[in-house]
Amino acid sequence: MLNDTTIAFIGGGNMAAAMIHGLLAAGSAPERIRVAEPDPDRREALTRQYPVAIMADNPAVVPGAQALVIAVKPGKVVGVLGELGPLLAPETLVLSIAAGVSLAQLQQNLRADQPLVRVMPNTPALIGAGIAALLPCAHLSPAHRLLARQIMASTGDVVEVEEESWMDGITALSGSGPAYLFLMAEALSDGGVACGLPRALADRLAVKTLIGAARLIDESGQHPAVLKNQVTSPGGTTIAGLVQLESAGVRGALIAAVQAAWHRSQALSAGH
Ligand SMILES: NC(=O)c1ccc[n+]([C@@H]2O[C@H](COP(=O)([O-])OP(=O)(O)OC[C@H]3O[C@@H](n4cnc5c(N)ncnc54)[C@H](OP(=O)(O)O)[C@@H]3O)[C@@H](O)[C@H]2O)c1
Repeated sequence: MLNDTTIAFIGGGNMAAAMIHGLLAAGSAPERIRVAEPDPDRREALTRQYPVAIMADNPAVVPGAQALVIAVKPGKVVGVLGELGPLLAPETLVLSIAAGVSLAQLQQNLRADQPLVRVMPNTPALIGAGIAALLPCAHLSPAHRLLARQIMASTGDVVEVEEESWMDGITALSGSGPAYLFLMAEALSDGGVACGLPRALADRLAVKTLIGAARLIDESGQHPAVLKNQVTSPGGTTIAGLVQLESAGVRGALIAAVQAAWHRSQALSAGH
C-alpha cells in the first residue's frame, strides 16, 4: 500500500528525515514522497540524503497527496494548517507529530470530517527502533487508520490510544524517555571507568548492556522484576549494586522524572 501512496511532509527536520528514511526502507517510492522545507541549507542536506522531491513552498507539496505529515515545531502547526487546510482534498489523511497540539487545535483549520491522527513518535525512529503512539480522530475510517499505522510502522513499533489525556504521559515516558537512558548509559560507563576500565571499553559495555537487557525484557515476555530476581544471587555482586541504587532512590527518581516531564507536557499543551 505504501509504495503507491503519495506522502507530503511539511517541515524537513529531524523527525521528518527519520520518517522519510523509514518509508524508503519500507518500500515507499521516492517519487511519491515530497517535503516542504523553508531553510535552504536543510533542503540541500535532505537532497543529498534522499532522492525525494524537496520544495520551499508548502502549498506545492499538497496536490495529489494522500497523506500530509505536519512535522514543524508545535508553535508553527496552527499557522501551517491555516495556510494548507483549505487546499486539502477531503480524503487526505493529516498526521501531526507535534508535541502538545491537540486534535481540537488541529481540527480548527480543517474540514470537520478531514481524516486526522495525532502522533507522538520518539527519536529511535531515526534507526527504525521508535515507538509511536497514534491518537485517531473520532471519525477516522478503517482505511485511513491502516494508512496511519503503516506510515508510522516504517519508523518502528506503533500503539494506538483512544484517550487524548494520555498523550502528555506518553510524551513524558516514550517521547522524553530516550534521554533518560542516554544519561544512564553515560553514568554506567563512568562507573566502569571508576573501576579502572578504559573509557572506550566502558562505553561499549554500557550500551550493549542496555540494549541486551531491553531486548531480553521485550523478547522473553518476562516482567523486569522476574528477570532482575534471576540475576540476583544471594550475597552476590548484583544485589550489592541494587542495594546501592535503592538507597540512592533511583527507582523513585525515575518515577519522578516521568511525572515532572508529564507536568511540563501538560503545561506546554495548555500554552504555558
Ligand atoms: N525530535 C523529537 O524527539 C520529537 C519527538 C516527538 C515529537 N516531535 C515533534 O516533531 C516535530 C518536529 O520536530 P523536529 O525535532 O523534527 O524539529 P526540527 O528538526 O526543528 O524540524 C522542523 C522543521 O520544520 C521547518 N519549518 C519551520 N517552519 C516551517 C513552515 N512554516 N513550513 C514548513 N516547514 C517549516 C524547520 O525549518 P527552520 O529550522 O528553518 O524553522 C525545520 O527544518 C515537532 O512538532 C516536535 O514536537 C519531535
